[in-house]
Amino acid sequence: MTEIQSLKGFYDRYPEEWVSWKKLIEVVDETAEEFGFRQIDTPNLEKADLYRVKSGDELMDQMYSFEDKGNRKVSLTPEQTPTRARLVQQRKDLKTPIKWYDTSKRWRYENVQKGRDREFFQGDFDIFGIESVEADAEVIAAAARIYEKLDLMDRVRFQLNDRNLLESMLEAHGVENTEEVMQVIDDKEKMSTEEFLEELEETGVESGKAEKIDDLTGISGPISEQIGELREKAPEEAQESVDRMENLSEALESYDVADHCRLDLSIVRGLAYYTGLVFEAFDDEGDLRALFGGGRYDELVSIFGDQEVPAVGFAFGYSTTVETDIYVLSVSENVRDTALEYATTLREKGLSVETDLSRRGFGEQLDYADSINAERVLIVGERDLKNNQVTMKHMDSGKEEEIGKDEVVEHLERERLL
Ligand code: HAM
Repeated sequence: MTEIQSLKGFYDRYPEEWVSWKKLIEVVDETAEEFGFRQIDTPNLEKADLYRVKSGDELMDQMYSFEDKGNRKVSLTPEQTPTRARLVQQRKDLKTPIKWYDTSKRWRYENVQKGRDREFFQGDFDIFGIESVEADAEVIAAAARIYEKLDLMDRVRFQLNDRNLLESMLEAHGVENTEEVMQVIDDKEKMSTEEFLEELEETGVESGKAEKIDDLTGISGPISEQIGELREKAPEEAQESVDRMENLSEALESYDVADHCRLDLSIVRGLAYYTGLVFEAFDDEGDLRALFGGGRYDELVSIFGDQEVPAVGFAFGYSTTVETDIYVLSVSENVRDTALEYATTLREKGLSVETDLSRRGFGEQLDYADSINAERVLIVGERDLKNNQVTMKHMDSGKEEEIGKDEVVEHLERERLL
């Protein structure tokens, strides 16, 4: 007998789990249609060269690349943006604005962790052919609409920046190696101030300037409130980008999403093709990685031919948004039946529930529950049951509480999970 499991970072989704993914995909698709985006379908395998020029080193390192039987160097698509740019370039007859969406799988050889998988879904939304901020505002509004529909808008924070703005501010302060410095800025949130300054100095920036950069990239807050400070600090060459940011802020207000957006001069994003606006969204209540990310890439289409077509868009990340409500953990073999009964009851109540299928140990089940973003873990153990109890673990705080074994439903109702 050979026991073969799925590869690390790749997931088997049985029907009871797939339903919550399918529901989310439907919300994303529905939102896209509401905003007039049209669905496309593109290959999952591309020539590796498609990514060489503009996706950046990090993504190149993460690609699943191999030689096919015709000795072509090919890659499983790590993202869809270059494919879309290729498609737009190929057709000169498309009427602008071209608004496309789709949800499909991508592959990246990542360090597997919460919200980072090797096979994952992305929902891409892009508008081609519109250079003005109206398109920028519309893609951001579409993203916001997804979270509104999911009832998550209260906890989602959108962070925006403009790479041109940041670059000209850096240049005005005499920074010459802007590209390298922007890569360090991209990692700023993961570092302490000392580390950040050190990393900057390692790229050759003098210490006085490093402190200036720390100060500049600390500009963060509601866009309309930051514009004044930006205008003061921005050099002449950057005033146009400041104007653009101000116009964007007004357009976001008309879409009623400005309150959820913040300007943050430390947002750079890893992909190399962005030419202006960049944005990401984070979950205020969780330690989740970016929920989605996007930006403007006006020069990508022209890499593949003579048509120049401006573009802006984002990819919605499913792994960081799908949350399993409850994972039912069975501490030992002889409580499995009881655990399954709990799982069934809670599913009947409409929750998305997972439980152990492969007789894994306690720690492994807990790790798994963490990896699928389970909100709660219901721990079913023999000793607890003898005391007429089960344990409920809150995965965000780590807090555990004992509840009566027949009071699980009431408890969840009280916690407003049901
Ligand atoms: P990205 O920032 O690489 O951008 O990915 C966008 C989102 O996809 C991330 O914020 C995250 O939610 C999700 N994501 C990325 N990598 C993984 C992973 N390994 N596991 C799970 N989720 C992941 C892009 O891909 C651009 N092509 C987005 C874009 C579209 N820009 C313009 N149009």
